[in-house]
Amino acid sequence: MSSQQAPDKQVPQQTVEAAAELLRQGRLVAFPTETVYGLGADASSEAALKRLYQVKGRPTDHPVIVHLADVSELSKWARTVPEAALSLARAFWPGPMTLILPRADHVLPQVTGGQDSVGLRIPSHPLARRLIETFGGGVAAPSANRFGRLSPTTAAAVAESLGDDVDMILDGGPCSVGIESTIISLLGEQPVVLRPGMLQVKDIESVLGCKVTLGPAKAQAEEVSAEVRVPGALPSHYAPHTSTAVTDAETLIELFAEGMAIGRSQGVLAFAPTIETMKTNFGSRFYTAMATEAFITAPADADEYARKLYDSLRQLDSLALHKILVEAVPHGAEWDGVRDRLARASAGH
Ligand code: TXA
Ligand code: MG
Repeated sequence: MSSQQAPDKQVPQQTVEAAAELLRQGRLVAFPTETVYGLGADASSEAALKRLYQVKGRPTDHPVIVHLADVSELSKWARTVPEAALSLARAFWPGPMTLILPRADHVLPQVTGGQDSVGLRIPSHPLARRLIETFGGGVAAPSANRFGRLSPTTAAAVAESLGDDVDMILDGGPCSVGIESTIISLLGEQPVVLRPGMLQVKDIESVLGCKVTLGPAKAQAEEVSAEVRVPGALPSHYAPHTSTAVTDAETLIELFAEGMAIGRSQGVLAFAPTIETMKTNFGSRFYTAMATEAFITAPADADEYARKLYDSLRQLDSLALHKILVEAVPHGAEWDGVRDRLARASAGH
């Protein structure tokens, strides 16, 4: 890694130009988006994409999202741009939304995972926009983590995860959304949300004026690898190393008590009332049982929860605990994206 820069506007244009030049040379540049940090490569270069897959440690038949600077670029990457795509683009781009459209002929199979479709997104983070504009082409970028691990939401998390394998990291500060974009497939008769995010189904429906289904990524999670290649849909795609369970408050408190009785080190991510109950129930034993950093009060607001989610899990994961206990989030649709990532974080544990 050649350099790591100070946040955002402080990043001089000279640095952005150097980053764009690295992309042109087929090298990898990690950059902030409003959702998570991306590991960027020239989407038109086979060699760059090859390196991208190597560094990610990701199977080559999994598609990556192409990041664009402007809606006018859509038709360069998509064979057809349906009216629905333009409506969604007007409403939500730049922003945390990815559209799956039929691919244009020139789009490399390394981008599409060999499928006849391509994922496109115009991010809103100013530094991402500067990079893509300066580069002047499509930037293929999966989240800047190794395959199967937590997505990074800070430049430090990228550096920790990818080390010297990335040629430059642009530091744009912590990501404001915190979980990956909402992916909408416009390939079929009806739009389908393949991966929920902080852009909600009801907002998509109100723009399109039709029903939008959520799935099938989740339903197909177990059988996804062979047919529909959506790595974000693999059950444990966003997993911490530490065994992680998501349960309701009551069960969480029970599990915590059981763990404490056998001297287990445990981490907790729970809402304030649950943590208060634990303090009352366990008294001083509670405080001696856990280091304060193993014990995170979850924000009651879904947006704020999402913003902090990966950082919280990463923090707990770094403590080499026996177990991470996470309180299940509320049922409301505004929690769909967070609930989905928590389910994946705990899958296979
Ligand atoms: O917020 C985000 O989307 C971040 C930032 C960096 O933009 N990117 C991201 O990329 O999450 P990645 O590679 O970690 O996840 C991209 C998801 C994968 O699940 C991939 O399979 C899906 O997008 N995808 C990309 N192209 C697709 C296609 N043609 N058909 C179906 N799924 C596709
Ligand atoms: Mg990812």
